[in-house]
Amino acid sequence: MKSLIVGNWKLYINSVADGKKLLKEIDKRYPRGVKAEVVVCPQLSIAAALRAGYGGKRIAFGTQDVFYEDGAHTGSVSPKSLATSGIRFVLVGHIERRILGDTDEMVAKKAAAAIEAKLHPIICVGEPARDQEGGHFTYLATNVTASLGRLSGKDAARFTVAYDPVWAIGQEEAPSPAIIAQTVMFIRKTIADMWGREAADKVRIIYGGSVDAESAKGFRDAGIQGLLPGRASVDAAEFAGIIKAFS
Ligand code: PGA
Repeated sequence: MKSLIVGNWKLYINSVADGKKLLKEIDKRYPRGVKAEVVVCPQLSIAAALRAGYGGKRIAFGTQDVFYEDGAHTGSVSPKSLATSGIRFVLVGHIERRILGDTDEMVAKKAAAAIEAKLHPIICVGEPARDQEGGHFTYLATNVTASLGRLSGKDAARFTVAYDPVWAIGQEEAPSPAIIAQTVMFIRKTIADMWGREAADKVRIIYGGSVDAESAKGFRDAGIQGLLPGRASVDAAEFAGIIKAFS
């Protein structure tokens, strides 16, 4: 399975001009011999503009959220509108959306609607905190099962799970790869309990939370198939370093 490097630009980049500049810089620093898929996720208006103006092939475009129904839903974005704008990937259930009200059930609907529109959803999961008793595993099991609750084993290769624990986002340093490896193993086991081992082995699982070019190297052997950097993805040199670590 191909690794996936996804840059979540959040609202760090807020004009098409700045987006173009960053994209150009990433393209310029893009390492040689990259085998991973590389995706940038600006906010929607910028993603659509950059997609339309990008003649290259090596960077794909995503955005940061999507809705699950057509019709009377003022202010939402439909999966089909993304797909027809050349957007291929979409984050769903990022913690910064969950804080504003997205439940596991809504995330599950968004993921299913995205797949239906032939988008590739990146479904974010992760516990708010860790404790000595391992209560975070109980939280995570429900979080994963419910967020994937409207998909089935036959969709296994059509989405990505991003393990994006709240306690690790926006920190000075990324957590140790050993902790991430252990938790990703648990996530895969949870999926195997739902759909069987064969399907679970087809699901790509990536990690996000304070990753930069330096820490990315340590994650190569953490049993993950990619990374989801936030801050480091809007620094072209850092992002190129992260891509390189997974190539
Ligand atoms: P960060 O963000 O890399 O800036 O910690 C990661 C995320 O929100 O997924």
